[in-house]
Amino acid sequence: MRILAIETSCDDTSIALVEANLRTPACRQAGRQDLKLEIRVLENIVSSQTNIHSHFGGVVPNLAKREHEKNLPSIFENLKPLTLNLKPGILAVTVGPGLEPALWAGIEFAKKISKELKIPLVGVNHLEGHLYSNLLPQINQVTNHKLASISFPAVVLLVSGGHTILLLMRDMLHWKKIGETRDDAVGEAFDKVARILGLPYPGGPEIEKLALSGDPKAIKFPRPMVGTKDYDFSFSGLKTAVLYYLKDEALKHESMKALKQREDVTASFQAAAIDVLTIKTMRAVREFGARSVLLCGGVAANQALRRALENASKLESASFFAPTIEYNTDNAAMIAVAAFMRTQRRRKKIPIVANGQLSI
Ligand code: KG4
Ligand code: ZN
Repeated sequence: MRILAIETSCDDTSIALVEANLRTPACRQAGRQDLKLEIRVLENIVSSQTNIHSHFGGVVPNLAKREHEKNLPSIFENLKPLTLNLKPGILAVTVGPGLEPALWAGIEFAKKISKELKIPLVGVNHLEGHLYSNLLPQINQVTNHKLASISFPAVVLLVSGGHTILLLMRDMLHWKKIGETRDDAVGEAFDKVARILGLPYPGGPEIEKLALSGDPKAIKFPRPMVGTKDYDFSFSGLKTAVLYYLKDEALKHESMKALKQREDVTASFQAAAIDVLTIKTMRAVREFGARSVLLCGGVAANQALRRALENASKLESASFFAPTIEYNTDNAAMIAVAAFMRTQRRRKKIPIVANGQLSI
């Protein structure tokens, strides 16, 4: 099956063309562990609006919508020859969660293209996209080796700008949510701490860069909810702790900018966030006897987090998976795979209406 996919849930405009095949067994057995899936990413174009939003310290929904409306036709124009040649069987579009004006831009464009190409339109949950981003091979390579080596049950840590979620997967097609953040998402905490420090948006990569030359043990920031029995998270207290620390320090120094230890602050904040994520994920691994750990979402780009989870997984004899670097942050290739997997699950169709709060 060839899938054309459109993603506009936040500040990345993306269109992808992906080929996904279930070789054997037959579709009705797709829930089994021996699922034989082949995926080829034929094209995955991402146009980032970071430069536009960074002046505002975050994504401005109506500005994002306007930019998506501008970017979509020109990206599609580039993809048109390939699309007309390879004739996708379905068109997938992200309907949520995300910023509703941004989502509508994608949906309206998708409706037009679906009519033009005479192919059915299906709605996709953005979070299912992140979940399946681990299966995506690099462009124009076919892989199923990753899939073959994911053993179940698996624990998934989904960490993005809007979400921090732990899932327990029984197999490739079935999961349940076991925990999530009660306030800020971890990516949001990175973005807010960056803003406090005067670093540009998105803050995650900026913090990671500065943290490389800081001491993660320099400042003892709290590890919120690390000892609770549930699998929920809370990151707003951690952000506030950084803010108070800096206010105290600023009183001692001339100005915040003069602070010598921005590196130590970022390294210590990052270490606190990673500790909480790792400890809770690994507790779930032990409790549910998970054999694999899957990391995904924009924050999965963080190398320190990847290393911490990989090392912790090794100690529990669980295999660790994280997406190929270009698929950590938002992209349409992951939306295509999520659409394909949904056809295999035979679940109810998602309405083609923007739903900012759609849950997984
Ligand atoms: O998945 P994503 O592209 O968009 C959402 O669905 O939210 O995630 C974006 C988030 C932002 O909060 C950004 O700061 C964070 O991912 N992020 C990072 C890194 N790269 C992106 N956080 C920490 N370290 C990074 N290297
Ligand atoms: Zn995302």
